[in-house]
Amino acid sequence: MINAKLLQRVIEASNDGIVVAEQEGEDNILIYANAAFERLTGYAVDDILYRDCRFLQGDDREQPALAAIRQALKDGRPCREIIRNYRRDGSLFWNELSLTPVFNEAEQLTYFIGIQRDVTAEVEALRRVEALEAEVRRLREALEAKG
Ligand SMILES: Cc1cc2nc3c(=O)[nH]c(=O)nc-3n(C[C@H](O)[C@H](O)[C@H](O)COP(=O)(O)O)c2cc1C
Repeated sequence: MINAKLLQRVIEASNDGIVVAEQEGEDNILIYANAAFERLTGYAVDDILYRDCRFLQGDDREQPALAAIRQALKDGRPCREIIRNYRRDGSLFWNELSLTPVFNEAEQLTYFIGIQRDVTAEVEALRRVEALEAEVRRLREALEAKG
């Protein structure tokens, strides 16, 4: 079994954001965030501890993926969703958020692990492909209309 200190170093070294949140009423408050989370979001751990991660959404709260996240948290099951988040300087990034419940020995849901991956480049590439596909469709229809 890996020892606790090594495990901590491994998590701290991860290239993806890793956080742990504890359920407190309606909120899941951060009790741990690794260095990659700080790099990704621009927030220092000390400034965001005990807050619910929803602050990363700013005013951009009308996102369909949030309903799926809310339901998974309520049901105590894992989920993976892509959402819009904002860094401390206000810049947007697309966050592929993977959430996993952690149960204690008494099978009670106590914590959630969150892994944040910046998928901005992938989302933008997909958008460009969709725009090009739409353009190809439009040109094909125009050609067919000409006979
Ligand atoms: C461990 C954990 C990590 C989370 N990480 C993020 C995150 O990086 N970005 C984000 O927008 N929401 C994150 N969330 C989701 C929000 O905290 C919140 O659950 C979500 O916005 C849905 O709830 P609400 O409608 O009450 O805001 C995380 C949740 C948990 C439990």
